[in-house]
Amino acid sequence: MKSIKNAALLFLAALVFYSCSSDNTAQTETTQESGLAHQAPEAPVEDDGKGIGPITSVEVGADIDEALATEGKSIFEGKCSACHQLSDQKVVGPGLAGVTNNRKPEWIMNMIINPEEMTKKDPTAKKLLAEHLTQMTNQNINEPDARALLEFLRQNDKNS
Ligand code: HEC
Repeated sequence: MKSIKNAALLFLAALVFYSCSSDNTAQTETTQESGLAHQAPEAPVEDDGKGIGPITSVEVGADIDEALATEGKSIFEGKCSACHQLSDQKVVGPGLAGVTNNRKPEWIMNMIINPEEMTKKDPTAKKLLAEHLTQMTNQNINEPDARALLEFLRQNDKNS
């Protein structure tokens, strides 16, 4: 126990020494302090279930916007159906049945727009990548198209 404490103290001392010696010698007290604070570990960010990307808030209606869903369907058929079924059956990626019940709308849109960062940083998307072992490709979907795809997936879940 004691030796662990000593080792920790030694480590801290080394950090202080390093931060003092590596910078400019005319450092003031305050800059030394901020130098130390900078080395403190970042506080963990809480997962709000909205994923990581440009979408922070989406309004969805109680009813399906049928015109928007139809637009989403044609995008889905062109850019998504090679890897995704609308049932729960996996192809390359997971079957998408029920996805709008299981994930927040923001999360789904961020996954569509920003899949690489999502599978690196978002805990849920990381797990999916670990299961499927294929990175979902970025299909260059803009926000309005991602919104249409979300509506189509909502329609798919309402009809099932
Ligand atoms: C190259 C294959 C591929 C394409 C194309 C693709 N995806 Fe994916 N998708 C995946 C994989 C694989 C995953 C699981 C995460 C991972 O491994 O990257 C995934 C995950 C998802 C998820 C999360 C599913 C869940 O269970 O939470 C959604 C939603 C999704 N994709 C929607 C789309 C949409 C919409 C498109 C079309 C714009 C699309 N994907 C295009 C392969 C693909």
